[in-house]
Amino acid sequence: MEKTNTIQGIEQKVEAILSQMTLEQKVGQMTQTERMSISPEEVKRYHIGSVLSGGGSCPGSNTPGDWVAMNDAYWAASVESDEKHLSIPIIYGVDAIHGHNNVLGATIFPHNIGLGAANDPVLLEKIAKVTAREILATGVEWTFAPTLAVARNNQWGRTYESYSEDPEIVKAYAGRFVKGLQNNLGRDAVIACVKHWVGDGGTTYGIDQGDTRISEDELTRLHISPYYPALAEGVLTVMASFNSWNGDKCHGHKYLLTDILKDELGFEGFIISDWDGIDYLDEDYSKTIAMGVNAGIDMFMVSEKWKTFIEHLLVHVRNGRVPMERIDDAVRRILFVKIKYGLFERPRPAERFWSNHDSFGSKEHREVAREAVRKSLVLLKNENNILPLNKTARIIVAGKNANDCGHQCGGFTIAWQGVSDNDSIVKRVSEENASSTYGGEVGVQKGSIVGGTSIWQGIQAVAPNATLSIDGRAADSAKHDVGIVVIGETPYAEGMGDIRSGDNTIVEMGSYIKGLLKVLSPYGRSLTLNELHPEDLIAIKNITDQGIPAVVVLVSGRTLIIEKELAASTAFVAAWLPGSEGQGIADVLFGDYDFQGKLSFTWQKKEGENFLRGDENYEPLFPYGYGLQYSNQD
Ligand code: GLC
Repeated sequence: MEKTNTIQGIEQKVEAILSQMTLEQKVGQMTQTERMSISPEEVKRYHIGSVLSGGGSCPGSNTPGDWVAMNDAYWAASVESDEKHLSIPIIYGVDAIHGHNNVLGATIFPHNIGLGAANDPVLLEKIAKVTAREILATGVEWTFAPTLAVARNNQWGRTYESYSEDPEIVKAYAGRFVKGLQNNLGRDAVIACVKHWVGDGGTTYGIDQGDTRISEDELTRLHISPYYPALAEGVLTVMASFNSWNGDKCHGHKYLLTDILKDELGFEGFIISDWDGIDYLDEDYSKTIAMGVNAGIDMFMVSEKWKTFIEHLLVHVRNGRVPMERIDDAVRRILFVKIKYGLFERPRPAERFWSNHDSFGSKEHREVAREAVRKSLVLLKNENNILPLNKTARIIVAGKNANDCGHQCGGFTIAWQGVSDNDSIVKRVSEENASSTYGGEVGVQKGSIVGGTSIWQGIQAVAPNATLSIDGRAADSAKHDVGIVVIGETPYAEGMGDIRSGDNTIVEMGSYIKGLLKVLSPYGRSLTLNELHPEDLIAIKNITDQGIPAVVVLVSGRTLIIEKELAASTAFVAAWLPGSEGQGIADVLFGDYDFQGKLSFTWQKKEGENFLRGDENYEPLFPYGYGLQYSNQD
């Protein structure tokens, strides 16, 4: 097939395909469903446009080979034309939001909050390129990234998916990350998806899927403007957001989806809904479908009830509630993306250049992640210039997050809600699993962050006199010169990470459905670390009570109220959610590299404050842009 990479050529091919399509094929193309809900045979029978993996949903033993085999089967079914089915390849979508984070052995990068602190757009493009190659190694074509949320209240459980509270850094990253992923739509490219359109980070109290109550000017300044560089870079998909804007759900918002994004900003790709995102538009599911399509959503992420979705949409078109013009517009956009991406010219997943490539999780890739860890760290306190540490010092390493690769990766890693995964966990596995999953030792399965390095392991590798005592109770001033205490949060994702301070906000969790509310169990009721995790201050005190100074490293998805822990520390480092390459922290603690990170979020002093960059009377604990360095310490 000739290369159709001119806009005119693409449009001609779109029309040529569209003119052959039946209504069933068009509606099928507008449908995306989860891999556990559909077989390759059904992909063909219902003309499905896309399949996805929800967080943690993986095939077989979750190796790249298993992913390639799965995608190859779906792809083969989608292109097998017959008298009823037109050959249109599916695209497979995943949340590869900090590396290909569902897959065992993938390189896991710091979550966005840490990358925001690095303030390094060139690095972001490098990360995107590495991530694209690891996605392609599994036969996947599409990632629901980057998130362009501007998180304005760190009670939000998705704060860590945001680069910053301020649009400045998000704008600087948006185009770069899309460029690194879509990579001129060549062999090394995946399809990017900027999300969530629009205003996801601006909800009242940081309620996940809540209501963003601001003027249109503020919405544009804070939450829409970061999309401009991504659109200019030619991002091919946009995901609609669960939140509402002044009481109206984005998934049913024609003004936001069609008038602004498509008409005013000229977006040529397609809009995908979020996970069952139309369900919350009304109690009548059939009605929500018409609402979502007519508002401007083009493809629908329907986790399970996709057959019902298809049936209802066919009825809506036949009875005129959804105009055929809208269906054709949606399908044109989907075909435009697939053709512009070159999908019709690409070989089947099993035969593509990057499929099963041995660069997946390679040392080269991990060095990029290690660099990102180093650059994301923010030094908040360094009394007596205790840092950098001497590698021969007698160090006691403590804290629940010191030796847990899962905790340092955070949510959306292996499982939707993340894992607790101390690399020294050794699980007995059956012979066939061990050989297929990890190779090497038969019968021995390390933790699921395969190939990762915990913060402790990174320290141990360079400091021969370091010892580990998770609760710090082995501290002894006769044996130890200094403590490193790695504390903070345990993994969470989305609403499960929300902080709900009181009844006035607890019930408004999840999505409004005409007064019906989906209440999730929030992470906690306070941003005060000592209330969330009292074990952390105890671990610090077990060391400092012995007269040993403590260097505290906070692993968290957001800024927290740290008054007590900060007071008890001699030095304090914000490490955010560093990902699989924990050794990046030792690189800086021992001075092989200087700190570079500067806060991309304001650090509040007390519970209930929510100072933001640019506020009058701005009196936080540490301001936006704060960060100490060795090079300028007195
Ligand atoms: C989730 C998230 C979205 C993600 C999607 C698919 O609910 O809101 O960011 O891309 O579902 O997993």
